[in-house]
Amino acid sequence: MTGEIAVLVGTRPEIIKLAPVVHACEKTGIPCSIIHTGQHYSETLDAVFFEQLELPEPAYNLEVGSGPHGEQTGKMLIGIERILRQENPEVLLVQGDTNSVLAGALAASKLEVELGHVEAGLRSFDRQMPEETNRILADHVAEYLFAPSQQSKDHLLAEGIDSDRISVTGNTIVDALEQYRSVAQQQSTILEELDLTANRYFLMTAHRQENVEDTKRLGSILEGVAATAADYNLPVVYPVHPHTQQQISEFEISVPDRIRLIKPCEYLDFLRLEAEAKLILTDSGGVQEEACILGVPCVTLRNSTERPETLAVGANELAEPQPESLAESIDRMIAKSGDWENPFGDGQASKRIVQTVVSQPLQVEP
Ligand code: UD1
Ligand code: UDP
Repeated sequence: MTGEIAVLVGTRPEIIKLAPVVHACEKTGIPCSIIHTGQHYSETLDAVFFEQLELPEPAYNLEVGSGPHGEQTGKMLIGIERILRQENPEVLLVQGDTNSVLAGALAASKLEVELGHVEAGLRSFDRQMPEETNRILADHVAEYLFAPSQQSKDHLLAEGIDSDRISVTGNTIVDALEQYRSVAQQQSTILEELDLTANRYFLMTAHRQENVEDTKRLGSILEGVAATAADYNLPVVYPVHPHTQQQISEFEISVPDRIRLIKPCEYLDFLRLEAEAKLILTDSGGVQEEACILGVPCVTLRNSTERPETLAVGANELAEPQPESLAESIDRMIAKSGDWENPFGDGQASKRIVQTVVSQPLQVEP
């Protein structure tokens, strides 16, 4: 691995958002290897994305699996440090705000491995979220901070991070969407399989700890969404994260009939479901971005977002899960035409990232 870029992944969104970076390395002949922490391991959250996004097998998989935050992060830290000492890559790239990111950031910062943080500078300003801690700590030990927008760069500057270390690249999710959006439209048959009509259903995802680990809140989200979808006489399709499925069973919540729980989707199926939905309800970071880029109105089932760009362009609203506030947000969002601007860049983020870390010119559009 010497002289190479090591790319760390652990969860579904990291695989999706770092795939364009791996592909940019492949296209330009830059040596690059994947280290997988194994934070996600279920086939539907992991292997299907390697296959569909045509990624090479990870050089290492730590198979850390699930567990309490400290235990999970600690196991990753031990494993990543061992690999970095053994392989001595030039740079370790991490993406986002998961426990895998925190472990990778800590391991690299104690060794002579430069750390690049993709999606740097996002802030929800909600310290209750484990992701907020992870992203702040990663930003403060990174040599290269790849901010998706000027607003994220401004957050970093306000925290005293040196401007020379920050590049505004756009978000690699735009690169991924450019590559897979039309393929999804042509190849996915998910609407037909689920007997759905374009623009005649809501798409929902929710998996955040703060939403699914409290029985009252999870029950209230499901009831609230079902009640408002009933007003529109539309079904809700919900590809459910295994954590949420587990909590629904444990809390013995009876899911309203209007909500169709399905297993987590492959990327192309999920993109098609997003693109054709009348409205998206989510607590996911990546889904808020994709909805905004695809021009589909989004209601976020949270009190805060680290993607304020989506609020600023009018693509997204935050809502409490109670039927009344949800209904108000949904009514407002559905009335929108979806022609807001994309605040996440031009689809060249992955090339900019690779170019910055190898400090050699690659073909990047201005
Ligand atoms: C993690 C990230 C979150 C990210 C999400 C992407 C942290 C703190 N959280 O949340 O920021 O939005 O990934 O989806 O890093 N499980 C499985 N199969 C798996 C993985 C998990 O069944 O492959 C179940 C286990 O019961 C596990 C639970 O999901 O206990 C939670 O998994 P974990 O990796 O801790 O967090 P996520 O909710 O997936
Ligand atoms: N996604 C998917 N299948 C699904 C749900 C989500 O492919 O059933 C994709 C989605 O397109 C987005 C990413 O997973 O790119 C978001 O991941 P997630 O919501 O798990 O994490 P977050 O972005 O909140 O960290």
